[in-house]
Amino acid sequence: MPAAQPFVPAPRLAPSAELRTVHIGLLGCGTVGQNVLELLSRRRDIFADIGVKLEVCGVLVRDAARERDVPAGTPLTEDPGFLNECSIVVEALGGVEGPLALLLPILRSGRAVVTANKAMLAERWDALRGYAQAGQLYYESAVMAGTPIIGPMSTVLRASAFTRLQAVLNGTCAYILTQMEGGKPYAQALSEAQALGYAEDPPTLDVGGFDTAHKLAVLARFCADGDFPYSAVQIQGIENVTLDDVAAAKAVGERIKLVATLERVGGGWHASVAPTRLPETHPICTAGAGRNSMVYVGEECGELFFAGGGAGGLVTASAVVGDIMDCVLGFPGHVPLH
Ligand code: NAP
Ligand code: HSE
Repeated sequence: MPAAQPFVPAPRLAPSAELRTVHIGLLGCGTVGQNVLELLSRRRDIFADIGVKLEVCGVLVRDAARERDVPAGTPLTEDPGFLNECSIVVEALGGVEGPLALLLPILRSGRAVVTANKAMLAERWDALRGYAQAGQLYYESAVMAGTPIIGPMSTVLRASAFTRLQAVLNGTCAYILTQMEGGKPYAQALSEAQALGYAEDPPTLDVGGFDTAHKLAVLARFCADGDFPYSAVQIQGIENVTLDDVAAAKAVGERIKLVATLERVGGGWHASVAPTRLPETHPICTAGAGRNSMVYVGEECGELFFAGGGAGGLVTASAVVGDIMDCVLGFPGHVPLH
């Protein structure tokens, strides 16, 4: 057997070394897309350190004439033709069939897609799973925004047999329920969550529990079943939670949270989303308004706790840009269970 060779990391580039230009396209320039552009410009030096100059070929929007807070020269357009020139496409549009139709040709041609779109991932896994298995799909930002959960679940946590998870996965509902504890009416708290850039369009996706269910289905494919169907998630939202309900829970040291649960029942998996009363000392109650949290239990890794920002522009952009960096460095995307 040949003698083992020590690992030699790639040398840092000399300052004068020529940078490789990587063309990327951005679909959407709303809360997420706008902050992705901002963060890409802040992190230009890190891309240069890894030998790359990113060039944004186009930014797809509905209304290119609308005034926006974007770097000067941003190539806003209503025509997706620029996608032909891009080797990486970042999707931050929302919806299901519209983005899928734009992304499938990119994926078929072997190119990489970074997406924040959990609705599309959850509902059209039939069309996307093969590309995820090939490592072409990056989607850390789709669940818990900038709080890393898909990364650990698609890598190190696989070594430990998964038992169950319980989580708050929707920033809008977390914000609304926390504000209601202070006596704020539901409708006012929802408008504030919308103004903060947390809510989906339409917000029924949040308050009806569907966004949480999308995220739970995405996660289940890493720890339970690589084909886990979105339709298997039982869903109840927070629309019928009243100020009286929240106050009654508070009076006995409890809080109401929209909780996603995934656990083994019999020979299969049970996935549900429902408003749930928990002791106020429960770990998933301790994350602040608008934040996400998760208790994850595996046989060998034991009980783990993840918490942090789960919605909003920059915190989501941090995961999107992290995925772009991984892609540029040659790491594969997030691969589900086989
Ligand atoms: P948003 O603020 O509503 O932005 C959507 C963007 O997409 C807008 O720029 C819009 O163009 C563009 N767009 C929508 N439909 C289009 C179409 N048919 N053709 C061309 N452009 C279109 O949404 P967002 O909050 O950034 O969310 C985007 C995605 O990220 C969603 O999948 C969402 O679930 C996901 N996400 C959001 C967050 C968050 O905290 N907001 C966190 C994680 C993941 P105009 O500007 O011209 O209207
Ligand atoms: N609407 C979502 C939320 C955005 O409120 O959590 C982040 O996925």
